[in-house]
Amino acid sequence: MPLLRSLRRLGSRPTHQDWPGLIEAYRRWLPVSASTPVVTLHEGATPLIPAKAVSERIGRGVKVFLKYDGLNPTGSFKDRGMTMAISKAKEAGSEAVICASTGNTSAAAAAYARRGGMRAFVLIPDGYVAQGKLAQALLYGAEVIAIQGNFDRALAIVQEVANKYPITLVNSVNPYRLQGQKTAAFEVVDALGESPDWLCIPVGNAGNISAYWMGFNEYKAAGHCRNLPRMMGFQAAGSAPLVLGHTVEQPDTIATAIRIGNPVNRDNALRVRSESNGDFMAVTDAEIIAAYKLLGSEEGVFCEPASAASVAGLLKRSHEVPDRATVVCVLTGNGLKDPGTAIEHNDARFHTGLAAETDSVARVMGF
Ligand code: F0G
Repeated sequence: MPLLRSLRRLGSRPTHQDWPGLIEAYRRWLPVSASTPVVTLHEGATPLIPAKAVSERIGRGVKVFLKYDGLNPTGSFKDRGMTMAISKAKEAGSEAVICASTGNTSAAAAAYARRGGMRAFVLIPDGYVAQGKLAQALLYGAEVIAIQGNFDRALAIVQEVANKYPITLVNSVNPYRLQGQKTAAFEVVDALGESPDWLCIPVGNAGNISAYWMGFNEYKAAGHCRNLPRMMGFQAAGSAPLVLGHTVEQPDTIATAIRIGNPVNRDNALRVRSESNGDFMAVTDAEIIAAYKLLGSEEGVFCEPASAASVAGLLKRSHEVPDRATVVCVLTGNGLKDPGTAIEHNDARFHTGLAAETDSVARVMGF
């Protein structure tokens, strides 16, 4: 009997189970109360995808999974933090929020703030935000301020503005952001039944690595897992302050999302490294692009360049992964955010300007 008909007969709905968003799903783990107005786009519940090609490259029975957080409503993990930050801002009576951003935070802040009926101001480094992200911030109705300076400068400015004026800062110095983002670790353990042996993650301002570590620890304390992962943070070689041990004045990388020289969560990140027996490492732009293309063309997963740093880093350190280990690579953002990089960096055969005739099409196909 066809599947659809048999499901109908059973009276069940075949396709969709309602997911209420991460605040409802993980309410008891989060600092919300019955009176918190929940602003949600039903973020979270992103897939943990087995990465066959990456696993095969490493061999030795190592199992690699991709936590594809690019499938959140605005296309990045920032939605996890923003549902919390905006809900708490609304609860506190705030009418406007502000952030500095390399793009994703601004898109998420804009979407959630507007949904919550608030104004959103976003400061971005002029010329260094991928096109999709800028399009989102504008379309969601943020007030976008592009400055002649990098992300680190923009963050310093919004911190001063939020100190002086009645506006809520929603960068990851806002503690509610990390509270929301820790739910990604919960989902990983919920899916695997245990923590992975390694968690590979791109690091910019170092909020997400701190949030994941908090999540794994809370789940362990509650008995949901027995182990904790080694936290492996990867930075772009031109923007690697945590690897170098000092601020980078002029950060540079093709992965504009993590083009950050002075991470605001530096102390947290250093603590995560020592507590988890983890490490930070730099990956070059060439290594990032190689992993980005591998994910697209062999796994069928389109992430943005910064996200591919997690896989680039894993491949670089793969000789250290124990046999039969489970590894999760966090893919923080969707590839559609940055179409320019994909169009410039791919190995596709792209035949253009062809006559609109069957013969000429067949000929380039090799027939
Ligand atoms: N991956 C992506 C796609 C990001 O957008 C960011 C940060 C990171 C990784 C790094 O995360 O800062 O928590 O270590 N993007 C910020 C932004 C800075 O403004 O969107 P982190």
